[in-house]
Order: sequence, then structure tokens, then C-alpha cells
Amino acid sequence: MKKTVKIGLFGFGCVGQGLYDILQNNTENTGFEAQILKICVKNKEKKREIDASYFTFDKDEILNNSEINLVVELISDAEEAYQIVKKALLSGKNVVTANKKMLALHLEELVRIQKETGTSLLYEAAVCGSIPIIRTLAEYYDNEFLYSVSGIFNGSSNYILSKISNENLSYDVALKQAQKLGFAEADPTLDVAGFDATYKLCLLATQAYGIFINPDEVLRIGINNLKKEDIDFAKNYSVKKENDQNTTNFKVKLVASISRIKSSENNQVLLYVLPVFVDAENPLYNVENENNAVLVEAAFSDKQTFIGKGAGGHPTGSAVLSDISALRFDYQYEYRKTDRNKEKNALGQTLISPTQNVEAEVYLRFENHLSKKELLQNIDFTEILTENENHIIGKIILSELFEKRDFIEKHHIFVALCGEVKAVN
Ligand SMILES: NC(=O)c1ccc[n+]([C@@H]2O[C@H](COP(=O)([O-])OP(=O)(O)OC[C@H]3O[C@@H](n4cnc5c(N)ncnc54)[C@H](OP(=O)(O)O)[C@@H]3O)[C@@H](O)[C@H]2O)c1
Repeated sequence: MKKTVKIGLFGFGCVGQGLYDILQNNTENTGFEAQILKICVKNKEKKREIDASYFTFDKDEILNNSEINLVVELISDAEEAYQIVKKALLSGKNVVTANKKMLALHLEELVRIQKETGTSLLYEAAVCGSIPIIRTLAEYYDNEFLYSVSGIFNGSSNYILSKISNENLSYDVALKQAQKLGFAEADPTLDVAGFDATYKLCLLATQAYGIFINPDEVLRIGINNLKKEDIDFAKNYSVKKENDQNTTNFKVKLVASISRIKSSENNQVLLYVLPVFVDAENPLYNVENENNAVLVEAAFSDKQTFIGKGAGGHPTGSAVLSDISALRFDYQYEYRKTDRNKEKNALGQTLISPTQNVEAEVYLRFENHLSKKELLQNIDFTEILTENENHIIGKIILSELFEKRDFIEKHHIFVALCGEVKAVN
């Protein structure tokens, strides 16, 4: 049965205002009725675009208001967002949120609370803005055997990579442009060091495979050590493919990926956020600027690519709107894959679990202050394919990269996957 939604909104920044605007201007006559009753914000000095009577600075004015049946949480503070979302669910209110960091850190607990309270927690907007991937994985791909879910999940880093590659800008100039246009945060580490993409990947791991992943356990290397020379190197890099043809002209993309590793039981998955050399046959090759993309590869539907705007007030607000609309019909993510995993566990069957015991071809470019000898003393390659005085291309077990991530960061080493990734027997 359709319900009238009475919203208590937290946050009136980029996405909060985007949602407000959409609710005012969505002229399609769908009989959709949603009303914002109150908006909680933080800064008392800020000038607001709409009537002051909407606003409060006290979160309990929303959380204790029995007329409000939906909390839409769109604030920038992950810890405060966690407190708000938890309290809202515990008091029987449904919640829509876009906060990937908060969700990635607390999802298992929040799902448990959702189940215990019979409420609903929806978060389509938290992963790749307007791309409808959460509900797609939860519902459409409920039963099909999934090989992988991967893609470009962070618009700011993709914008920077595109500008360096297509317009010959330096990393610093491209980053400044991204910040000026509002794509990158004032502190861009969340974007360029891969944190944002990692949070999103963890949420997709739950919806794709029914597993909860701690973001700290994901192999995460960003583009913060990238230089224009790495992009030029990728353009000229050449590999022989299975058909004996040479592939060249690669682009560097920051790719987030969860994929099954081929083994007798197919029960292990590899998760990473890494720069990757992609060739023109890869659907990610032409995903440029602030766009995001998600590639899903499954046993029978084969490969599908979703491309769209991963950020911005209106695109992200549209995903929030879709969740609000779904709540009129009491929609919930049911976590059937998580439940099936629990059933398998009770029967003593092997569960899907993460592994980094995978060998990959990687490109490592290092700075003058670090000699090749020193690098090789610290990082174990299983095979070196080519080397010179500022880079090495070789095979590495990915757990080795994970273990050496502090060394890699400390010495500003740029790392990218540049070839085959395969399970180690
Ligand atoms: N921007 C995007 O394109 C995008 C895309 C997908 C997901 N998201 C997620 O959406 C959320 C909001 O992002 P945004 O870009 O809209 O952020 P934003 O523009 O920085 O706005 C943040 C809003 O949160 C409010 N706020 C911060 N701390 C608060 C607190 N303790 N209590 C109440 N209000 C508080 C701020 O209040 P004041 O107005 O008083 O400062 C502001 O209105 C974040 O979780 C973000 O990760 C954003």
C-alpha cells in the first residue's frame, strides 16, 4: 500500500539541496507525495536558500518527532551520521542515506538493527550516485552466479586521470581543477587515495556476495603517487594478447573490483582498489571525467556495463528520490545472499571469503631517492619481466603488496596492475 512520506532531512549541502530541488521540481505526475517537515544542519551562521522555519540544529527535533516516518541522512560527518541512523532505526523510523563511509564501517550492525526493528535502511545513492546498482545486485542478480563486479567508483580521480591523459595537464593542475569544480574534496585524500572507492566496494561486496568486508582489509592503492609520465608510459605500453596481436595505447584508470578467483570450489573473492592499465576493449576505457561505471559479469547474463553520473546534487538526489519512492511500498533490502551464507555455514559448507593469494603483473615506478636495489630488498617479486632505473614490471602476489602498502606510500611509489591476474595454486 502507498504511504505518504513525511521526511526529516539531515544535511542541506550538495545532495540535501539537490534532493529538495528535485522534490520541488519533479513534475512527472506519479502521485508521489513526500514532504520535508524539518531539516537538521550544523552551522548556525550559514545563509540558507529556503525559509528559516524548516531548519533545526537539534537532531532530536527530528528523531523524536512521531509525525516523521522517514529520516533522510545526507550529512558529511560519518560518525554523527552513524549515531543518527542507528537512533532512527531503533526508534522505528525508516532511513535513506548516501553516506558510504558510515555504511562501510557499520553495515553489519545496521542490517541487524533493520531486521530486529522491522524498519528499512536504503542506500542506493551511496554507491556511484545515479547508477542503480544496489537494487540491481540485490534483486536482479539474486540467484545468478556472479563472476565479478568492478568499475570506476570515484568521479574525482577519474576526472584527474582524464584531464592528464586527454589534455596533458599535470596531476596538480588537474586536481586543482577538480576541486574548483566541486568534484574533489578540499582534502582530496578520500578520493585520490582510494578510500571512497573502497567504501563503495565494501557495500557492493555485501549486495553481490552476501559478505561484510572491513574496508581496512581491502588492498587499496590510489592515484596520489601518479605522475604524467605514468600515463604516457601506459599509452606506449604494449602486450601480446592470446591471439598474438599486440595491444597498446592503454589508459590508467582507478578500478575497484571484487571478483571470484577460479578454484575448485569458487568460494574465494579478490577485492582491490588499484590503478589499472586498461585497453580499448575494456568498457572502462571510454568512461571519462567525473563519470562512474560499474561492470557486472555473471554466468548467464554475461557482461553488463552501467555508466552514469557518480556525484553531484541532482544525480545523487535522484537515487535518494528513488529510495524514498520505494519506501512508500515498504521496500527493504532483504540480504538473502547473507542469509544463504549463514545457512551454508550451519551445514558446514565452505563460505565465500576474501583472498589475496593471487599473482598479478604490476608496474611499479619509484622516485630517485629509492634505489632499485633497496626496492627489491623490500618488495618480493615472483618474477621480474622488465626493469630500468625508475620502474619495474613484474609479477607479485597481491598479499605482498597489501603487506608493503606503508612502504609503498612512504616512498611515493606508483603502482598499477598492467597484465594478468591469476590464482596461485
Ligand atoms: N556530493 C556528492 O556528489 C555525493 C555523492 C554521493 C554520496 N554523497 C554523500 O552524501 C553525504 C552528503 O554529502 P554532500 O556533498 O551533500 O556534503 P556537503 O555539501 O558538505 O553538505 C553537508 C551537510 O551536512 C551538514 N552537517 C554536517 N555535519 C552535521 C551534523 N553533525 N549535524 C547536522 N548536519 C550536519 C552540513 O551542515 P551545514 O549546512 O550547517 O554546514 C551540510 O548541510 C555524504 O555522506 C557524502 O559522502 C555525496
